Amino acid sequence: MKNSIKILVYFVFLNIVFSQISLAYVVSTGDFNKDFFVTWSPSHINTSADGRSRSLKLDQESGAAFASNDMFLFGQIDMQIKLIANYSAGTVLAFYLSSDQPNRDEIDFEFLGNVSGQPYILQTNVYADGFDDREERIFLWFDPTEDFHTYSVLWNVYQIVFMVDWVPIRTYRNHADKGMAYPRWQPMSVKVSLWNGDSWATRGGHDKVDWSKGPFIVSLRNHKIDACIWKGEARSCRAESEGNWWNKERFNSLTWTQRRLFKWVRKYHMIYDYCQDYKRFQNNLPKECSLPKY
Ligand SMILES: *[C@@H]1O[C@H](CO)[C@@H](O)[C@H](O)[C@H]1NC(C)=O
Ligand SMILES: *[C@@H]1O[C@H](CO)[C@@H](O)[C@H](O)[C@H]1NC(C)=O
Ligand SMILES: *[C@@H]1O[C@H](CO)[C@@H](O)[C@H](O)[C@H]1NC(C)=O
Repeated sequence: MKNSIKILVYFVFLNIVFSQISLAYVVSTGDFNKDFFVTWSPSHINTSADGRSRSLKLDQESGAAFASNDMFLFGQIDMQIKLIANYSAGTVLAFYLSSDQPNRDEIDFEFLGNVSGQPYILQTNVYADGFDDREERIFLWFDPTEDFHTYSVLWNVYQIVFMVDWVPIRTYRNHADKGMAYPRWQPMSVKVSLWNGDSWATRGGHDKVDWSKGPFIVSLRNHKIDACIWKGEARSCRAESEGNWWNKERFNSLTWTQRRLFKWVRKYHMIYDYCQDYKRFQNNLPKECSLPKY
């Protein structure tokens, strides 16, 4: 009797160990050289000796970009970023997740530079099944060029939450049960790029990149990828097991504290919301606009 209980306990234990392993979630190494590869202009990227910080340069010759070695399906990605000081008009720094498929899913942070002394805009967007047109824009409540701040995406089967220093600035909920598209099948890679977007980025393209004020440099550090690595099939990442912490109940929706912060951002810092743009959608706002955000 005693022995059979021991054996039972042992098997339960083994089961737990194996289910954890098969979920294959990962906390990144924290080393830019190990977690990412350069996709555009290595000469415009510097990485510190320990791999924990990296800078990107934009000049007349080129911008720069890099992407993760792995693709992921659900998890949380954090990146600390310090943006271009002083004159940055026309520049765009993008930190995003993308599936790179024809009907692509994408989760975007885009930092739009400005002339000296004027504020950056943080634009976010969500593509689901190839459809985007979901821009939101905020002014940050601090100067993002003075110091590093943490920009994060939490992505699970229930919601996508964009965060700035852990303050939720935007959500995109899974309303698939109401026929809405939601990124939940395609794995995505993590990407960062710095480029000239002066045809549209600053005051609708009015303020251009001034090369005499360059080179323009963005610094990144302490990235964290705590996500399920794609191994060719969705099953293990989609398993709604609590072994992947982002599946736990408290991540199904914003917490009470998060809701208060979220409302504060939207009340005092939001400058554009596609869900308020009746003119653009000819009074026919996308359906998700009338559905709950948390
Ligand atoms: C990398 O370092 C070199 C030498 O210090 C410097 O000239 C270059 O501008 C740096 N590039 C970036 C992207 O920071
Ligand atoms: C930005 O401007 C300040 C004040 O004019 C100056 O001290 C600083 O060196 C400038 N920073 C860069 C990166 O050019
Ligand atoms: C740049 O500053 C101007 C003036 O304050 C502002 O209207 C604009 O929204 C700011 N940001 C961008 C990216 O255009």
